Amino acid sequence: MANIILLGAPGSGKGSQAAAIIKEFRIPQISTGDMLREARKMGTEMGMLAAHYMDSGELVPDEVVIGIVKERLAMDDCKNGFILDGFPRTIPQAQTLDGVLRELGIELNHVIEIDVPDELIIPRITGRRSCPSCKRPYHVAFLKPRSENVCDDCSETLVQRSDDTEEAVNVRLEAYKMKTAPLAEYYKKSGKLRVVDGVGDMKEISARIFAILA
Ligand code: AP5
Repeated sequence: MANIILLGAPGSGKGSQAAAIIKEFRIPQISTGDMLREARKMGTEMGMLAAHYMDSGELVPDEVVIGIVKERLAMDDCKNGFILDGFPRTIPQAQTLDGVLRELGIELNHVIEIDVPDELIIPRITGRRSCPSCKRPYHVAFLKPRSENVCDDCSETLVQRSDDTEEAVNVRLEAYKMKTAPLAEYYKKSGKLRVVDGVGDMKEISARIFAILA
């Protein structure tokens, strides 16, 4: 069973590595960032509330995020494992998650922190692009499409996330240091934390993670 939390700063590669883990282990990725962006696209009340926080780089209030994760974890496809990407992000979220997992009779197996120095974060995030149609991820320098700014699969023009500006990234990094970084200590106490070097080729980093999950 692989019930996994991926921790790491914005742009540390949580989403990229979650995609590799899904392929290898066939378990769903629960990304609170993706769920909030989807709610926003659908124009739900929660999505509209979250939009303001996300664009500025601030964290969305705990009660909003906790609600969506509780519902998602209770779904059938999580019975054989899951990857939490971007959740928990605060100590209250981690404490609530402990309670939810207890209620559902689920044991957390791995907490993997992807460690990347700050100076690599800004170019990674500001260069990120994706296809608005198939969601395939790209990067202007590290994961280029065959034709500039066009999706290889569906020929759509690539887009940039609204919070991937340098200004918002600085706020996101600050929020990470103040509110999320203390989670490493929280999970170290339970003996579940493993820190992976997040610098290098994406495949090399996946191999480091798979070695822990094996
Ligand atoms: P979220 O969507 O979770 O964003 P994030 O944590 O800031 O992380 P990112 O998606 O930016 O980066 P990542 O670590 O997944 O890296 P990726 O693989 O994409 O959250 C967005 C917002 O939603 C938050 O700011 C907050 O407002 C709200 N939110 C979400 N969850 C919340 C919660 N629990 N509580 C409260 N608020 C919440 O990689 C980044 C780039 O780098 C890509 O272009 C990729 O191609 C490239 N890259 C990856 N790995 C490598 C490598 N090894 N070498 C070179 N390039 C690489």
